[in-house]
Amino acid sequence: MSYEAKFRVWRGDEGRGELRDYTVEVNEGEVVLDIIHRLQATQAPDLAVRWNCKAGKCGSCSAEVNGMPRLMCMTRMSTFEPDEVVTVTPVRTFPVIRDLVTDVSFNYEKAQEIPAFDPGDTKPGEFRMQQVDVERSQEFRKCIECFLCNNVCHVIRDHEENKPSFAGPRFLMRIAELEMHPADEADRRNIAQEDHGLGFCNITKCCTEVCPEGIKITDNALIPMKERVVGRRYDPVVWLGSKLGIV
Ligand code: SF4
Ligand code: F3S
Ligand code: FES
Repeated sequence: MSYEAKFRVWRGDEGRGELRDYTVEVNEGEVVLDIIHRLQATQAPDLAVRWNCKAGKCGSCSAEVNGMPRLMCMTRMSTFEPDEVVTVTPVRTFPVIRDLVTDVSFNYEKAQEIPAFDPGDTKPGEFRMQQVDVERSQEFRKCIECFLCNNVCHVIRDHEENKPSFAGPRFLMRIAELEMHPADEADRRNIAQEDHGLGFCNITKCCTEVCPEGIKITDNALIPMKERVVGRRYDPVVWLGSKLGIV
């Protein structure tokens, strides 16, 4: 069954913009990205939108649909009533380039700041992973870098000034993944807490709620990482050792 949907799409650039109303045809089984593409094809050829796979795997088509951070290619039109206005706006935490396209370089800069996997003196082939360790990091490895979690986290969504000192849930999860890796020899606890702002996270779990891969970011990465940081800070032996420079 086809129908005409009312869409309200944010149009503009880094300087100014506005919500514009469109009426667009919707066919059975379509997703929000299909409608945006039809809008481009029929009424707004200059509408800027970033996408690639249309299969929920490249992480490019992140936007806010009726105020909820979502992948447009994974948001079915059947989610909405046919007479409902569907409002599509760019993700809010990163600066707009044009229309629905934002500059997400914040995320790439944070990624570069995280020290790489450190195998110490272990040579390739010397270390045998336990299945439990493989499974733990596999969950984190499902990340498609859509940055919806970083977009929704209030620490930077509402506080631009926190951006230099907070890596966001995606990259705190990456630090946790490395910290939990049995063959990684770097101590990531200070890196997480001091360099990347783990202490800013007050476990609101909004990141987990919006993750299209269903990764339990808060429960499986951020909280265990916080426990490791606390273990280091409040263990008297570790505290004394760190003062003496031997831990
Ligand atoms: Fe996206 Fe989830 Fe990865 Fe965050 S953790 S970037 S929400 S896939
Ligand atoms: Fe932000 Fe997720 Fe923590 S939304 S506050 S990083 S639990
Ligand atoms: Fe690739 Fe949506 S287009 S995740």
